[in-house]
This record gives sequence, structure tokens and C-alpha cells, in this order.
Amino acid sequence: TTDIKKIQQEIHRLKEEKNAIILGHYYQRPEIQEVADFVGDSFGLSQQAQQTDADVIVFCGVHFMAESAKILSPDKKVILPEPEAGCPMADMANVEQLKEMKKKHPKAAVVAYVNTTAAVKAHADICCTSANVLKVVQSLPQQEIIYLPDKNMGDYLSNQTDKTIIRWPGYCYTHNWLTIEDVENAKAECPDAKVVVHPECADEIVKMADKVTGTSGIIKYAGESDAKTFIVGTEQGLETALKKEHPEKNFVFPSKKLICAQMKANTIEKVHESLNTLTPEIHVPEEIRVAAKKSLDKMLQVK
Ligand code: 13P
Ligand code: SF4
Repeated sequence: TTDIKKIQQEIHRLKEEKNAIILGHYYQRPEIQEVADFVGDSFGLSQQAQQTDADVIVFCGVHFMAESAKILSPDKKVILPEPEAGCPMADMANVEQLKEMKKKHPKAAVVAYVNTTAAVKAHADICCTSANVLKVVQSLPQQEIIYLPDKNMGDYLSNQTDKTIIRWPGYCYTHNWLTIEDVENAKAECPDAKVVVHPECADEIVKMADKVTGTSGIIKYAGESDAKTFIVGTEQGLETALKKEHPEKNFVFPSKKLICAQMKANTIEKVHESLNTLTPEIHVPEEIRVAAKKSLDKMLQVK
């Protein structure tokens, strides 16, 4: 820990020297969350960074998140400490596949979850987050919607709207680990607890939940609900922020398996190294950036 403290001090010094900010997704390791200027959900972090006058953004998250930061802040240098940290689900959809899908369903609108590459966003009609997905879909004039890449979120959506949701076969392996048995066991131990899960969980888990929402939504719900104990269905990393924001409440993570290896691939050593060298830098070709920004801006206009 003295080593970690030393590295953290050095990170603070480098941040000032380079006019850099560190963004930490809620799933990051606690020692990374400690040095982050903003800790937040996948898209919110890029919006927060956009408001600052930093020259450099070090994004402790996965590749598509760093791309979103670059899309919103093209004049800032965006660094992803571990270049291999990509979201496997985002990589389950590419532009060629999307073009094929559009050919099969020419009347459908394409809604791309933020967990997609910048190139896929550029070929979508509009983006959405785990928090606004239903509102986005309801705001569209089309009756048919191609929703990608998460099949579980497509199922969830399909249960909430009269529109036809054409699903994509993508999934988050992390959230898919959670089983009915895990949740039932936790409920047996804490019968008064509320169950709150991320919409990337399987359909049968979502149906057991009192509340279905993204990472920031889970933190907000824990604050607003009268319950004292919550059974939480998302990546283990969210525990750090939940405990910090709501120290008077209890959080039960019903499975030890919900760890995203790609999120955890960023380490405090790599954050330090990347600040020092200002690499690896994330680039988005301007044509793709502008088209992807259009899809994100359209989402932000949905009331
Ligand atoms: P949030 O947008 O809810 O932070 O989710 C990000 C993510 O990768 C979920 O697995
Ligand atoms: Fe992707 Fe799932 Fe990891 Fe989020 S938790 S980055 S959706 S694999």
C-alpha cells in the first residue's frame, strides 16, 4: 500500500504538470477511483470531461468510452491506459453486420447503445444509454427498431414498448454470469432487501428486480429507496461508490463472478505510465467522429 500511495502521489503531480484529468468508470479498481477527478457511468464521464479545460483526458474504462470522450472533446488528447481494454459486447457489432441488418429491415430505425464502437454509432440513427433507452425508442417515429448490440436490453425493451424490437445477438459476459439461484439465495438471506439490477442482466433476472437501471441509476435508487439493504446485480466495482455515497446502507453482491476483466485491465501502474508518456492515445477519424456525434446529439435532444 505504501507503493500504491507513492504512485498515487506521483499521479497527482503529473496531472497538474500536464493539465490532465482522470476519468474513472464505477467498475474501476478502488485505487484508481481514488485518483480520479470524476467517477461515473460510461457516457456521463465523457460529458463531464467536455465541460473542463483540461488538455488531456486519461480514461480509465474501456475503448468505446474513450472514443466517446474523443467524439465530444476532439481538441483534447484522450488516453486509454490499457489499449487492450475493449468491451467484448461492443465488439460484437461491426459496420458490415449493421449494413446487412439494415438491408433486411429497411424501414427500421437503428438505436445504438453507447456500448458500441464509434464507427457503429456513425451508422446508427440515434444512440442511447442504459438510463434513457426506453425514452429514446419511444421518441422515434418508426415502428420497427434495430437495437444493438445487447440482446438482454433488447428483451427488456421489447417488454416495455409496443414497437417491434429487432434484437442483436450481443451480450455482456459479466452480467450474464448472474443466475436466478444467486438472486434467490441472496433474497433468502436478506428477505427485506430490494433487488436492483443493470439491464444488461438476463431477462429472467431483470424480471426478479424491483428496479432496473444503469450504474448511476443504481446509486441514485439506493439513496431514494426506504430500504436498508440492496441486492445489487452488476459488476463488483460499483460497491466502492455505493459504500461511499450511502455508508448507512448495506449492499449485497449475490455472485462473486461479476468481474469485468477488461475494466480491471487498467491498473494504477498503467495509469501512472500513461500519464507520464501520454500514450496510448485514442484517435477517431474525423468523418466517423462527426457522424457518431450526430447520433449522440440526437439522443441528448430527447426529452
Ligand atoms: P453504465 O453505462 O451503466 O455505466 O454501464 C457501463 C457498462 O459497461 C455496463 O456493463
Ligand atoms: Fe462490456 Fe460488460 Fe465489461 Fe461493461 S461490464 S465493459 S458491457 S463486458
